[in-house]
Amino acid sequence: MNRIKLSARFLAVLFVTAVIGEVVIENATCTVTPLGSGDDTPQIKKAFQQCSSDSRIVFQEGTYNIRQVMEFTNLKNVSIDIYGKWVWSADNLQYWISNTLPVTYAGLHTAWKLGGTDIALRGHGKALFDGNGQTWIDENRSGSNRQGRPINLTIWRAKNVFVDGITWRQSQFWHTFVAYSSNVTMTNLDMRTRSNSQWSAVNTDGIDTWNSQDIKLRNWTVECYDDCISIKANSKNIDVRNVTCYESGCAVIGSLGNGNGQDTVENVLFEDFKCNHSSNAAWIKTYSGQGYVRNVTFRNFEFSDVDQPIYVTPCIYSSSGCDSSRLPIEDITWTNIRGTSRYNVAAGMHCSSAAPCKNFKFENIDIKPKAGGTAKVLCSNIQNQASMGLTCTGTCPANWPQQLKGNR
Ligand SMILES: *[C@@H]1O[C@H](CO)[C@@H](O)[C@H](O)[C@H]1NC(C)=O
Ligand SMILES: *[C@@H]1O[C@H](CO)[C@@H](O)[C@H](O)[C@H]1NC(C)=O
Ligand SMILES: *[C@@H]1O[C@H](CO)[C@@H](O)[C@H](O)[C@H]1NC(C)=O
Ligand SMILES: *[C@@H]1O[C@H](CO)[C@@H](O)[C@H](O)[C@H]1NC(C)=O
Ligand SMILES: *[C@@H]1O[C@H](CO)[C@@H](O)[C@H](O)[C@H]1NC(C)=O
Ligand SMILES: *[C@@H]1O[C@H](CO)[C@@H](O)[C@H](O)[C@H]1NC(C)=O
Ligand SMILES: *[C@@H]1O[C@H](CO)[C@@H](O)[C@H](O)[C@H]1NC(C)=O
Ligand SMILES: *[C@@H]1O[C@H](CO)[C@@H](O)[C@H](O)[C@H]1NC(C)=O
Ligand SMILES: *[C@@H]1O[C@H](CO)[C@@H](O)[C@H](O)[C@H]1NC(C)=O
Repeated sequence: MNRIKLSARFLAVLFVTAVIGEVVIENATCTVTPLGSGDDTPQIKKAFQQCSSDSRIVFQEGTYNIRQVMEFTNLKNVSIDIYGKWVWSADNLQYWISNTLPVTYAGLHTAWKLGGTDIALRGHGKALFDGNGQTWIDENRSGSNRQGRPINLTIWRAKNVFVDGITWRQSQFWHTFVAYSSNVTMTNLDMRTRSNSQWSAVNTDGIDTWNSQDIKLRNWTVECYDDCISIKANSKNIDVRNVTCYESGCAVIGSLGNGNGQDTVENVLFEDFKCNHSSNAAWIKTYSGQGYVRNVTFRNFEFSDVDQPIYVTPCIYSSSGCDSSRLPIEDITWTNIRGTSRYNVAAGMHCSSAAPCKNFKFENIDIKPKAGGTAKVLCSNIQNQASMGLTCTGTCPANWPQQLKGNR
């Protein structure tokens, strides 16, 4: 027995109350019990410091109050088991706004960074992360990207990570972000951020990946009112299956191509998706920058009431450079894509005339307007249009809107 501190059992017997709110370390396991009030961040930090390698950290049932940012980035072979509820405080927004940790991307910040090698974060279906997101939604009044508004959990410069069985409710901003990481598997996750005020939830994405590779996502349910699964610049070998998204952009590549460097995305599979009442189902959005999107497959999608199920644009948000973008989009397959569109458009695809889309492939596309009739397929600058397996019914203008407001 490797006793770093007194035995838990010994303490428990002699001083029952002494262990409450104390990190108890035994057999390379740090066991944490919630304080019940105040701020649990110091003891959570202590546990992550004392059990930062070849260890296990167990958070027992109960509510943990998180009032400070947390950054644990040098973990080595640590298994984290959370059985309790973590609540990020909402009575100190000014603290978060001034202190959240930068994540480099788009000036965004996070409240919790986790990094290192060989990390497992398991919620056992019991961990509940409550970001008190309503406060952030109301504070920013339907705005987004508010300076300091925190991403809930960031996997940062990490390798060999396993995340499983966690529930998120009312995330402050993006639920999760994976950056500069490789070999990350995230399974059985349940996320929901839904506004109950007149202000809407914006940028409460399920996940965004950036500068990362070898990522597997399985069995997610997400209601987020923004992008559900979003693959951003320099992401490679991404395999996502069995995801149900409500009120979201569903399966998304982008946005990317907004900076000066090369933004690339390659080898992505989205399979077995359900997209309910969403803005899009299977879409690719880039700015008119540099890089490429290559080898992406959307397979087995079912959806209902989707504003614009298939959408490809080289000039998202700005509508500028739509025909001068040199960021090619190629080797993209849509297979078994079925459901109802909100209006009479199944697909809007405008590719840049300077870098036409190449090798698009469509099989078994069955999209019907929910009000009946047939849905339009609008295409511009797709090099293999004639042989791609889907008949275009018209051209797609460069300034095609991201959201439709009615039939076209
Ligand atoms: C630590 O290991 C010893 C010996 O294997 C075992 O008896 C004890 O229950 C363990 N303690 C904890 C807290 O798991
Ligand atoms: C990882 O840590 C566990 C303790 O949590 C230990 O039993 C195991 O030997 C460690 N693995 C390696 C490769 O060191
Ligand atoms: C993540 O959100 C959960 C609830 O959604 C909350 O308990 C947790 O504190 C948040 N984490 C961070 C780092 O904001
Ligand atoms: C929401 O955040 C954005 C970005 O920081 C900011 O421009 C906007 O003014 C904010 N809205 C409100 C109502 O604070
Ligand atoms: C990837 O990470 C998992 C833990 O999620 C680990 O079991 C596996 O060995 C890692 N694979 C490689 C190639 O390192
Ligand atoms: C899928 O994830 C949900 C949590 O969102 C969980 O309740 C369910 O058991 C998981 N299904 C499987 C087959 O693991
Ligand atoms: C797929 O997702 C659904 C909905 O969350 C769940 O019921 C089912 O068990 C999942 N299947 C697998 C193999 O994870
Ligand atoms: C294309 O991506 C898939 C994953 O969706 C991968 O299995 C395949 O090897 C990739 N093809 C090439 C040529 O890299
Ligand atoms: C998705 O929407 C359809 C049609 O509105 C509905 O029948 C179905 O139950 C929804 N699916 C889920 C999983 O809620």
